[in-house]
Amino acid sequence: MYENLKLILDSSDAPEPGAFEWRSPSNIAIVKYWGKHGDQLPRNPSFSFTLSASFSQMRLDYEFKEVPDNEIDLTFFFHQQPNEQFAAKIKTFLERLRPVFPFLSQLKLTIHSENSFPHSAGIASSASSMSALALCLCSLEDHLFSTLRVPEEFDRKASYIARLGSGSAGRSIYPYASVWGTTSVMPGSSDEYGVGAESWLHDTFKDFHDDILIVSKAEKSVSSRAGHALMEGNPYADARYGQARKNLSLLEEALKSGNVEEFGRIAEDEALTLHALMMSSNPSFMLIEPNTVALIKKIRAYRADTGIPVFFTLDAGPNIHLLYPGSVVHEVRSFIESDLKHLCENEYYIQDWVGEGPEEV
Ligand code: PMV
Repeated sequence: MYENLKLILDSSDAPEPGAFEWRSPSNIAIVKYWGKHGDQLPRNPSFSFTLSASFSQMRLDYEFKEVPDNEIDLTFFFHQQPNEQFAAKIKTFLERLRPVFPFLSQLKLTIHSENSFPHSAGIASSASSMSALALCLCSLEDHLFSTLRVPEEFDRKASYIARLGSGSAGRSIYPYASVWGTTSVMPGSSDEYGVGAESWLHDTFKDFHDDILIVSKAEKSVSSRAGHALMEGNPYADARYGQARKNLSLLEEALKSGNVEEFGRIAEDEALTLHALMMSSNPSFMLIEPNTVALIKKIRAYRADTGIPVFFTLDAGPNIHLLYPGSVVHEVRSFIESDLKHLCENEYYIQDWVGEGPEEV
């Protein structure tokens, strides 16, 4: 939808070398995207909180090529080190984006990328890194052609590009929260890009925490790409897509009215459904670990005993995301220290919270 062959540089007016740098956060889905079709289009709409402490920082340097060719010329550094594996992935992605950004093959590109969290912490970095890359590319386009001056248009294109890189990354562009996928409950929503969902949030949800309990740092045994693909033969797929739509509309009401209990019920329902779908795929697979289940039982028992509103969600992996309002941060942190931390790999967990979205550095 953004193909534009006019975005070509005039060699008689070559731009000076320059750079753009963005810091972009990860996000945590409350209503999950699981199942896709076509070019990374979702089977159901999803909702996420934008995180804060877990981010990627990326700098894109560019200079005009002396000798023109039709290639993507990219050098890639991850935490200061050349990284051939990441370079190859990003290069393939940039090649795919040539119809959208035809000027890319006129430039020599260098990317420096870093994550705020350890690479092998069991946290997916695709949402933060793909959104950071999309933002750098849109800044570059706007600098060279002045085409994205309207902030809403800039965000929408950045979200579209991020989504092509990794579906859920399209939701990292916005402060606080985002909806991705066409739904009647969010005017302007689209399968092609995420939109901001700050307007859905009662103040309680703008001060919300997501502490990530690292149950295992090991790489996932099944990629999310393979997991999405297995939804095509899943006997529960249609019921699932209907459930996600229903949950999204219930979630909208809970978020607007500040109903933390209902929010938590939906978050846990979505997390367990996601993993039930994995277990009911053919072939089936399981990403939770014994300590994931142990933690879930402890969280539910603590909530029942104390009345403190603390809930969990899960990504496509074994780690627990502990969701709770800022008003109970002291209680929950001491609960983590005394009862939960020892079930994490090397007692490692990350304190994160709902944040204000990407920042240009
Ligand atoms: O963006 P992907 O293709 O890695 O898929 C993400 C899927 C989940 O994290 C499990 C759910 C979601 O909506 O983020």
